[in-house]
Amino acid sequence: MTHAPVKTPMDIQCLAATDPVTWLEQPTDCLILGVPEENWQSVPLLQAVDLATDGLLDRCCERDELPRRAGATLMLHAPHGLQAQRLLLVGMGKPSANIATQVLATARAAASAWLASRADSAIWVLEVPALSALPAAQCAALTVRALREADYRFDRYRSEGVPPPMRRSVVLAIDPESEPAVSQTLAVAIATANGVELARDLGNAPGNVCTPTHLADTAAILAARWPLDVEIFDQAGAEALGMDAFLAVAKGSSEEPRVIVLHHRGGPASQAPIALVGKGVTFDAGGISIKPSAAMDEMKYDMCGAATVLGVMRACAELALPLNVVGIIVACENMPGGNALKPGDVIRSLSGKTIEVLNTDAEGRLALCDALIYAQRRFAPAALIDIATLTGACVVALGSVHSGLYANRDALAEALLAAGRWCADSAWRLPLDEEYQPLLKSTVADLGNDGGRQAGSVTAACFLSRFVGDNVAWAHLDIAGTAWKSGEHKGGTGRPVSLLVRYLSELAARD
Ligand code: BES
Ligand code: MN
Ligand code: ZN
Repeated sequence: MTHAPVKTPMDIQCLAATDPVTWLEQPTDCLILGVPEENWQSVPLLQAVDLATDGLLDRCCERDELPRRAGATLMLHAPHGLQAQRLLLVGMGKPSANIATQVLATARAAASAWLASRADSAIWVLEVPALSALPAAQCAALTVRALREADYRFDRYRSEGVPPPMRRSVVLAIDPESEPAVSQTLAVAIATANGVELARDLGNAPGNVCTPTHLADTAAILAARWPLDVEIFDQAGAEALGMDAFLAVAKGSSEEPRVIVLHHRGGPASQAPIALVGKGVTFDAGGISIKPSAAMDEMKYDMCGAATVLGVMRACAELALPLNVVGIIVACENMPGGNALKPGDVIRSLSGKTIEVLNTDAEGRLALCDALIYAQRRFAPAALIDIATLTGACVVALGSVHSGLYANRDALAEALLAAGRWCADSAWRLPLDEEYQPLLKSTVADLGNDGGRQAGSVTAACFLSRFVGDNVAWAHLDIAGTAWKSGEHKGGTGRPVSLLVRYLSELAARD
């Protein structure tokens, strides 16, 4: 079934020069420069370009063709007076309230314009005076993310019309002062991009390929290649663990469920780990409370929490982060088979709490509650973070801009929000007030799994909170709106791998 040749990742390096004018003298297929919306004439490097090219920028400007607005690009061929074969100008716009997002968007535009050309190599000068509020290392990280994301393709299942992969290489040109910070961040950004790509590949893989078994096989392959330890529990193994709420979801499918535990042991054995719990519903048909058929194909992405965990674990291993991180994935299908869970059924979770299943389509919380209990009992984690495509209501509330964030500790919430802002993989905090809890009442069991029409994302988070002790710092990321895109550009995004790798690498740097 696989036809397309395997693509090697883009080669990204950084190089420092004291005088940025040096970059104009370097031979390259493409020189990439940012242009501020206002006063480009006051930027020394652009002045130098204009001088070397006999007023090329000035002429573009006079014809009102100089790209200035954020994301506008202009590709000039054979610029006379420069060593580069092409000059790619990218409008940077005016500095906005959210500079990281703006830089990512403009870098995406530049990366796409470069990749659309036949130019193999590029020198990308990162100095953008108008947006200098952004530290060079952060700018480099966003540029790497844009480059790798623009270069990503998922054509594994195409047998026709696939252009041969090109091996591209890019030099990020920086000043010597920022070199130590940039080269360190570059390593993190590249490992992050590798994790993002893994998460995108898994998300994009069809449901008949990306089964619970496939997720487990992927974890095993990661553990064979990187210094990660893996444990895989099959149906019988999960029964022995007592994960009956999770297993109740799996009952309606003929695909075997899996519980996957991946260990990155980068810190001392005595150090409590950060536990990442991922929802891995490889297809969510809704079960007996079956979903309507419109866009049901997108429920193959319901394992994106699990894909995030795998992507983050890969990055932790590649970076050898001096931190203990454990990834726990509950993987199953939610199908309406003859054995399926039914509305009204009462099940007992690993915690001992009983749950009345009012809606079999609220399956994520059933799988996750057991995983959360398991993580706390076995690992007593320093922080517990679950990642799940949990509710359509979160998409209604936040769209595809921010992931929904819930936390029982302000410090953990702040750290995750800051990490997301830094790499433009943002989250927005939503409430967990006690006042929402009555919505989860059941007439027969300890709680019901459906909070009704009001505050659907909040009540899902409140459900999970019932399985988290007060003694542990816990956060829940509802990524239903951010993990994949619908429509013309349908596909996995790899979010929030970047947020979490940033959070973990900051944590590792602080300890
Ligand atoms: N996987 C879905 C959430 C989802 C739906 C994500 C649409 C992205 C787009 C989840 O399992 C689900 O079905 N949730 C229900 C919960 C409800 C029945 C309480 C939902 O959001 O409708
Ligand atoms: Mn569902
Ligand atoms: Zn689901």
